[in-house]
Amino acid sequence: MKISVSVLSLDYSDTKKQLDEIKKHLNYMHFDVMDAHFVPNLTFGPKILSDFKRYTGMITDVHIMVDNPRFVSEMVANDADIITFHYEAMEDESDIIPMIEYLHSKKVKAGIAVNPGTNVTVLLPYLHVADLVLVMSVEPGFGGQSFIESSYAKIEYLKEYREKNNLNYLIEVDGGVNDTNSHKLIESGADILVSGSFLLKGDLKENIDKLL
Ligand code: DX5
Ligand code: ZN
Repeated sequence: MKISVSVLSLDYSDTKKQLDEIKKHLNYMHFDVMDAHFVPNLTFGPKILSDFKRYTGMITDVHIMVDNPRFVSEMVANDADIITFHYEAMEDESDIIPMIEYLHSKKVKAGIAVNPGTNVTVLLPYLHVADLVLVMSVEPGFGGQSFIESSYAKIEYLKEYREKNNLNYLIEVDGGVNDTNSHKLIESGADILVSGSFLLKGDLKENIDKLL
């Protein structure tokens, strides 16, 4: 079971102190790239990713919520260990396999994300090559939203499908994760829990223990 801390919820007036605490307790950093087109919010890009990677040495789990995933992934590939792009952002489905192949050529693990309103079965043609599936449990764009309950069924489906077909992708869940849903998410089959606002409010170590 892994926790990926979403740095969207950091207090950016004082990042160093928070990064020191984070790297003491966690291995995965979830880094949300937003472009104000695919989602109604704007965040950070390659420079901050690179500085955070160098400073923390953590595994960088980069979630790109952008209209042009291929272009943006080329900008962040050098400092990303995982890049997850949105199924909904791919203009042409025939670009999905080449996108995954591009990420693999850069030695980056490839994740595909689905929005709450998208049925996970759209991903079936790609699950044999994807390293990770990200189930969005809120509408992408902002931290601090409430968890959408229909996400459990998607995770259960992905877990069962993986077992039946002998596949290896990881299942990640992102949005509204806290201590009231994390245990059921783990039971349902989630391998990586993304958490921002819950984890970064109050004592980090205590919050990690509450999630697991
Ligand atoms: C939302 C982002 C999430 C967000 C999660 O679009 O993809 O990663 O930071 O934050 P919380 O845990 O606050 O829902
Ligand atoms: Zn995210």
